[in-house]
Amino acid sequence: MHHWQKILMMAALMLSGSLYADDDHEGDHHRQPNHTRVKAPAAWQAECGSCHMAYPPGMLPPAAWKKHMDTLRQHYGSNATLDAADEKAIRDFLQLASSENRQPVPTSKPGEPPRITDTRWFQHQHDEIAPAIWKRKSVGSAANCMACHHGAAQGDFDEDSVRIPR
Ligand code: HEC
Ligand code: HEC
Repeated sequence: MHHWQKILMMAALMLSGSLYADDDHEGDHHRQPNHTRVKAPAAWQAECGSCHMAYPPGMLPPAAWKKHMDTLRQHYGSNATLDAADEKAIRDFLQLASSENRQPVPTSKPGEPPRITDTRWFQHQHDEIAPAIWKRKSVGSAANCMACHHGAAQGDFDEDSVRIPR
């Protein structure tokens, strides 16, 4: 990835990250003109954040989230099904809040929905992390963002708040 592509990608991620995280910035003039404001339904944090962190919607394109929502019964070996009302609210939220992500849907293993950790930008950002680190007990897997990104729950993936645990 070229440097400018990285910058564009990070800008897109931050924008989408801010979609649900900064309700108090109503008068922010630095926002992009077509920026969509979407408020997360309570069920999203409660349900999609119960087994792992509620991953920021902007980290996958809309088509990838659709695959997730269509396959909740077989979600990486877990059953993540929801009642109909929550399912619809989360489905609609993920579609809208990810709409600025134009990246391709990452290739997934058979029977799995697409992973953030399989996107090219993710792998590029983490290419200096040795494979053994992901497998440390303190990390578990690359999907466990919070093991290293201490501000992840607040949508903060800034390098200042990264610390790889032993
Ligand atoms: C019952 C537990 C459970 C619930 C509820 C759940 N998930 Fe997951 N999810 C998992 C497991 C297990 C994995 C695989 C984690 C790993 O590989 O370390 C996963 C992985 C993911 C990944 C891929 C992470 C990566 O590697 O990039 C995404 C995206 C995801 N879940 C989204 C969701 C969304 C959206 C919801 C709510 C609709 C949800 N999850 C609810 C258990 C759950
Ligand atoms: C083993 C620790 C570890 C895990 C787990 C991890 N990361 Fe990272 N991440 C890093 C390190 C180290 C960097 C590079 C920081 C730097 O640029 O110096 C990084 C960089 C990033 C960046 C770019 C930050 C910037 O300011 O340039 C993003 C975005 C990011 N990670 C998101 C994620 C997400 C999302 C997850 C979970 C799906 C995740 N990371 C899991 C360690 C980790």
